[in-house]
Amino acid sequence: TRKLWLDVDPGHDDATAILMAIHSPGIELLGLSTVHGNTNGQNTAINAARCLVAFAAAPNVLVYPGAPKPLIRETKHDPEIHGDDGLGGVEGLPSLEDPRVLARFAKDKKTGEIISADVGMATAIRREWKDGKGCKTTIVACGPETNLALFFAVHPELIPAVEEIVFMGGGIGLGNRSAVAEFNILCDPHSAQIVFDVPLPKFMVPLNVTHTAILTRPIHAQLLSGIPSPDISEKDPLPPAKTPLRHTLHTLVSFFAESYETIFNFTKGPPMHDPITIAYLVKPELFTSTRYRVDVELEGRFTLGETVADIWNYSAPDPESWGKGGKNVVLSEKLGVQGFFDMFLECVDRCDAV
Ligand code: BDR
Ligand code: CA
Repeated sequence: TRKLWLDVDPGHDDATAILMAIHSPGIELLGLSTVHGNTNGQNTAINAARCLVAFAAAPNVLVYPGAPKPLIRETKHDPEIHGDDGLGGVEGLPSLEDPRVLARFAKDKKTGEIISADVGMATAIRREWKDGKGCKTTIVACGPETNLALFFAVHPELIPAVEEIVFMGGGIGLGNRSAVAEFNILCDPHSAQIVFDVPLPKFMVPLNVTHTAILTRPIHAQLLSGIPSPDISEKDPLPPAKTPLRHTLHTLVSFFAESYETIFNFTKGPPMHDPITIAYLVKPELFTSTRYRVDVELEGRFTLGETVADIWNYSAPDPESWGKGGKNVVLSEKLGVQGFFDMFLECVDRCDAV
């Protein structure tokens, strides 16, 4: 079983990453930290707890709120894509007034205070590691990388306790919040560069890959009915939702689809960014990838936040290293899209069966 710490800013696609992290075989989710990003830090924490109530029967996975702002830049949110509260248009999730939502925040047993991301991560990762006698934890980041940068700055002694960092972010020659900058990296480029220099294996899921994972109408139909619907056309009506969970997911992907159609002219359906990180943990064979030196542009006039992959090895004098001067990132270049959506729909089936 792979131990997982998941850092998110829900966010429609983050919500589906949470669902997959809970319901994929071979993964044990230790905790969820939340970060500023798609919406403010308070909303992302509340949204993560709402998702846990809706998607996870077992109450042992908890939320640890993290950084409300980037290290240096001004805070930036994305209401155009995700609505004002980060989960615009999503029906059927419990609200903050529901006591089950508050119960999903990790609290100190003595003081009752909510435990923060850095403390939660350090405690869980150290507990699993057992001074080298236990096992390592994989960290997956689906939002700006502020929590990870702070964690590694404060706890360098826990670097050996981490197996790998897997993140959705960046794009090679491709952006979504400027011509070349992707949202997660652009929100906090300085944190991203700190994380890119941490001497640990890293796996990057860039826009170039996530833009191939389009949730098309046949997948949307199967999400609703639970039945494969490969022949459904754009004109056919969607089937009714088999269960309340499927209705919730239908409203989620419909809102996301509308955002992407309006803002980016994606007419075949929305791209599924964040849950692709979870697919990598379970089925790495779905990916084709190459290891490069990747850095973040921190100054460019037109290119701030761009992820720059050094395909000619100009800047990796120590190629074996995962840190400074090394080929620091495995960049995914191609995904078996059908295999990914099969996994996603299987997770929905499992979630529905609980
Ligand atoms: C990333 O930014 C957010 O909109 C999504 O949640 C995803 O993590 C895509 O650029
Ligand atoms: Ca996200």
